[in-house]
Amino acid sequence: MNTISISRRDFARLLGAGAAAAFVRPAGSFSKQPEHILATGQVVRLSANENPYGPSPKALKAMTDSFTVACRYPDEHNNVLIDKLAKLNGVDHNQILLGDGSSEILKLCAETFTGRDRGTLVAADPTFEAILQQASTNGAEVVKIPLTSTFAHDLPKMLSAAKAGLIYVCNPNNPTASITPKDELRDFIAKSPPETMLLVDEAYFHFADSPNYESVIPLVKDHPNLIVARTFSKIYGMAGLRCGYCVAQKQTIDAMRAHQMWDSVNIMALAAASASLDDPDHVPDGQRLNSEAKTFTIGELHKLGYKTIPSQANFIMFDCKRPVVPLIQAMKQQNVHVGRLFPALPNHMRVTIGKKSEMETFVSAFREVAT
Ligand SMILES: Cc1ncc(COP(=O)(O)O)c(C=O)c1O
Repeated sequence: MNTISISRRDFARLLGAGAAAAFVRPAGSFSKQPEHILATGQVVRLSANENPYGPSPKALKAMTDSFTVACRYPDEHNNVLIDKLAKLNGVDHNQILLGDGSSEILKLCAETFTGRDRGTLVAADPTFEAILQQASTNGAEVVKIPLTSTFAHDLPKMLSAAKAGLIYVCNPNNPTASITPKDELRDFIAKSPPETMLLVDEAYFHFADSPNYESVIPLVKDHPNLIVARTFSKIYGMAGLRCGYCVAQKQTIDAMRAHQMWDSVNIMALAAASASLDDPDHVPDGQRLNSEAKTFTIGELHKLGYKTIPSQANFIMFDCKRPVVPLIQAMKQQNVHVGRLFPALPNHMRVTIGKKSEMETFVSAFREVAT
């Protein structure tokens, strides 16, 4: 009992002061801490498309309140979150599958729908690569189709390359932050053969505000081959907690669940995700802060003569007019961590949009190394 209350107080204090409290501890006070924990205050981490503002205060409270149920399996919490997500997305309870991050959803799709005998994976190049790796581990053929000149998915080519299996569409796309226009996506879904599964990854949905963008969740009811993935890692600031989900028709959810570990999402993540959905301010606040810091960063890069790919996400990609790898290294020397090399775009740098102050540090470090 004592241990629990002490731990809870410590945890609440840590979280109540914002994750920053944990981050500003001097490097010497940890023996072997992950770089970003050691770092903050010294290192600006703009490499993983995380949300620098952290979870909603309601999520933090829900986690501290859940300490006492940490001894229980998470079934009830699972159901509460599924009910909320079903309501939010206008679907039935049995059309939602939760995952240990949306990464688990992607893995389940690769396992369920690709493989030596089950079919090919078709994906864009460049795109978020996790599912490519999982499909090839399964023995599936992986076909990469370059993005178009406007950094959209080349959907007609992707469709003609598909042999049953799965087509992965990341919209907005990581690493380019670009979107695939809604009319093209709707047309592609309508034309897709029923034996080819379509996975649309909407991890960055909340950051997209273009009139040319829309979620395809409303199309799930008419398309048994459509799966839409979402995550709590981005706008909800829960990347370290691990919670994501997908929406699909019941038979698809059942097929995927058969490959899933039981109780894969932990009770803290479930409580935090549920509480986040009850916070009316968290999403609009996050969108506004991201948009302000993004506008600032793009403006500064344009002043320096660099062209950015139009961004509909919480990161940007821009042409740095020379090989990016030495620049990534040079930025690291300045304690600013940016995205890694994406081989299809060797002269482009991907930068996560952090807080405005972090973006000011990024801009001055970039000016220093690139000019
Ligand atoms: C497009 C995309 N999908 C999925 C993920 C995985 O997110 P998570 O497993 O944290 O939900 C990421 C992570 O950066 C991503 O960029």
